[in-house]
Amino acid sequence: MTTETTETTATPGALVFPDGFVWGAATAAYQIEGAAAEDGRAPSIWDTFSKTPGNVTDGHTGDVACDHYHRYADDVRLMADLGLAAYRFSVAWPRVMPTGAGTVNAAGLGFYDRLVDELLAHGITPYVTLYHWDLPQTLEDAGGWAARDTAARFADYAAVVHGRLGDRVRTWTTLNEPWVAAFLGYCSGVHAPGRRDPAAAFRAAHHLLLGHGLAARALRAAGAAEIALTLNLSPVIQTDGGESEARIVDGLLNRQFLDPALRGSYPEDLLEIVARHGGLGHIQDGDLEAIHQPIDLLGVNYYNPTFVSAGPGEPAAPPFPGSEDVRFDPPPGATTAMGWPIDPSGLESLLVRLSRDYPEVGLIITENGAAFDDKPTGDAVHDDDRVAFLDGHLRAAHAAIAAGADLRGYLVWSLLDNFEWAYGYHKRFGIVYIDYETQRRVPKDSALWYREVVRRNGL
Ligand code: FCB
Repeated sequence: MTTETTETTATPGALVFPDGFVWGAATAAYQIEGAAAEDGRAPSIWDTFSKTPGNVTDGHTGDVACDHYHRYADDVRLMADLGLAAYRFSVAWPRVMPTGAGTVNAAGLGFYDRLVDELLAHGITPYVTLYHWDLPQTLEDAGGWAARDTAARFADYAAVVHGRLGDRVRTWTTLNEPWVAAFLGYCSGVHAPGRRDPAAAFRAAHHLLLGHGLAARALRAAGAAEIALTLNLSPVIQTDGGESEARIVDGLLNRQFLDPALRGSYPEDLLEIVARHGGLGHIQDGDLEAIHQPIDLLGVNYYNPTFVSAGPGEPAAPPFPGSEDVRFDPPPGATTAMGWPIDPSGLESLLVRLSRDYPEVGLIITENGAAFDDKPTGDAVHDDDRVAFLDGHLRAAHAAIAAGADLRGYLVWSLLDNFEWAYGYHKRFGIVYIDYETQRRVPKDSALWYREVVRRNGL
């Protein structure tokens, strides 16, 4: 793509995105819905984990969250007021199939049915994610993602949800961030289910990929128009001039998922690490074929690059088994309230790399955003730091398109402040502020700014 098609001369310095570029916002079920025990929903691993003391700051849970389950119509109106064209949400597996398999809970499916209708009535395109980390607890009790059977159960569940929503939903994302689910969930243990077993984490990663492939196949057979997989991707930058440590971490974080899903093979350097942690016996004949389904979109969740250098004698970082002798460097510059480096250039290089290395798949940014310590002033929230963050990342996205990346949309994380996993409600990523005492929604300055971006299709 040349810059001529993406830039305008009408307003000096203005950046216009390609026609049809999709603008929206994203959320996830456990982070916003609340109503944890209503209408037949059973516990997920996040209910169990958040209720176990010590796991989440101040013992916060998703029991109430943003009460979106009851306030979804207000929230859709809010999205419409912001002019959003698309809304990415996730379906809670334990609402739809409380024990993860077998019995379907019609009342749980009914919620998503109403949500989709409400979105469409407001001209907002629904983007469904089938798994954003809330595994039914019953399936965890049977081994969770470390057990192969969970992959097959996931495909069954995908078909059930498609059966109810497939007449109105075009775009289906199987998984959100399988690296996080596997390595924070089963290795470092800072996410549900809180296990600390590297071999189980590598098995979980493989079974998540297999679940993706089986679900993608089922969705395609059922007539799904667009199928996607969302990964958390991070350019790994080696700060000491070397390359081998960056390659190890890139294999674990990025290529472990990209290569099987988009090329049908695991990287050799990654397999060496997996072999040292419990062996390769869980990778069965035919699995890579099953994982390598044609998909239409790769969902990119980008927050920051990862900085590493050689660190002889360093133990492996908890979520990176195999990263012995690698030093994870502190962020070099400004950070968000998460302590994450602010680096839009990482987004540009990532998108360009993806379109170069995996040219057959379209790209959509399914998450990008930042937590800051927002404080309301009267009826407003002046979050200039978030506006600057988003502006910088949109400029980077635009530059990536000009450099040839096949980027088709941008979904900001997040529509609402919400339950930020192990940090509870302390970290605010929303463009809309939530007063958790009253459940009042206050669009932050970033929301009003984003409305203009959407209206102009650019900056
Ligand atoms: C991503 C998650 C999302 C949110 C953001 C900040 O890893 O997918 O749910 O927590 O980080």
